[in-house]
Amino acid sequence: MKILITGGAGFIGSNFIHYWIKNHKDDEIVNIDALTYAGNLANLKDLESQENYKFIKVNISQKQEVEEVISSEKPDAIVHFAAESHVDRSILGPEQFIQTNVIGTFNLLESARQNSNIRFHHVSTDEVFGSLGPDDDAFDEETPYDPRSPYSASKASSDHLVRSYFHTFGLPITISNCSNNYGPYMFPEKLMPLFITNLIEEKKIPLYGDGLNIRDWLWVEDHCQAIDLILQKGKIGETYCVGGDTEKNNKEITYKILELMGKGEEMIEFVADRKGHDKRYAINFSKLKNELGWEPQVNFKEGMKIMIDWYQKNQDWWKTIKSGEYMKYYKKNYENRE
Ligand code: NAD
Ligand code: DAU
Repeated sequence: MKILITGGAGFIGSNFIHYWIKNHKDDEIVNIDALTYAGNLANLKDLESQENYKFIKVNISQKQEVEEVISSEKPDAIVHFAAESHVDRSILGPEQFIQTNVIGTFNLLESARQNSNIRFHHVSTDEVFGSLGPDDDAFDEETPYDPRSPYSASKASSDHLVRSYFHTFGLPITISNCSNNYGPYMFPEKLMPLFITNLIEEKKIPLYGDGLNIRDWLWVEDHCQAIDLILQKGKIGETYCVGGDTEKNNKEITYKILELMGKGEEMIEFVADRKGHDKRYAINFSKLKNELGWEPQVNFKEGMKIMIDWYQKNQDWWKTIKSGEYMKYYKKNYENRE
């Protein structure tokens, strides 16, 4: 099978490519990515010389670039990760979220349908369902959409477009709506890697508002395995919710990180809350469990230890990101070869 991955230089996309190449040795991977601030080819350095892996720089919001790569590569399946993914950035500047998440997804769908209806898996988020109260039932596939940030509204819009291509054009799609991932190669603007790297650098960690917002955490490789199952065995046209069964508030996460890193609570700095900050996300993944036999494998405490250890051992990786140096990686390693 030849799979075209969008956004493969980002956090989950690069973990997915490592996962796929490890578990499906005979398959071919084409990674298309625009290499925005969040895309980093250093995440895939060890695969560069492999024959069954190829990177092509493509901006999915450019229709012609998308059409060219899909018609020339002729993949059997597309797994679509590429997105603007950070909520805080969508509050500061929503436009790029519409360009990439909405127009970009539309361009991919159009090319997929015009190139003999390519199998299409769309990677989405639990944030499309809105914000839960403390006693509300967890989100599931029947939960009505209620996005509340420009990021989640753009992802909701892309989900609707993907579903419409199934109903209207018969495009063989599936969608997964997943909770918060954590693990290696996570860009240090998000809560966990920001706090871990700040603490290694003896810097304070900025906790928003009262720190009581709740997220459900899932080890990134467990997410990759869920996508693998859905891609191969999921029912066409269907949506699957993916979650970690690990609801924690941000204070709990913060204290756990402090404890595992041997730091005190004086490192916490309470800062102004995020605008429109969703209170709680939780996922009921029984459909995925009952139909495809998926369950998260990595327990949260174990995962956090592995993650902290990874950031301690890979300081070059995140220090070049924090200093802005990583942007030169593409130029040095790829541009000169073209
Ligand atoms: P990320 O920000 O780490 O990576 C996004 C990747 O997409 C980057 O490599 C970036 O260069 C690329 N990209 C951005 N705009 C592009 C464009 N116009 N054309 C081509 N490539 C472009 O994101 P992530 O955290 O890995 O998330 C991946 C996907 O999973 C997203 O669709 C996100 O909505 C979804 N998701 C993320 C989480 C999470 O916890 N991170 C949870 C659920 C769902
Ligand atoms: O739920 C899935 C979503 O999880 C994905 O769709 C998004 O792409 C991903 O970024 C993530 O969104 P969140 O907004 O939940 O993640 P973030 O790491 O930005 O924030 C997690 C929580 O921590 C949230 O309640 C805000 C809070 N926070 C975040 C940062 C960056 C802080 O308190 N301080 C911070 O500095």
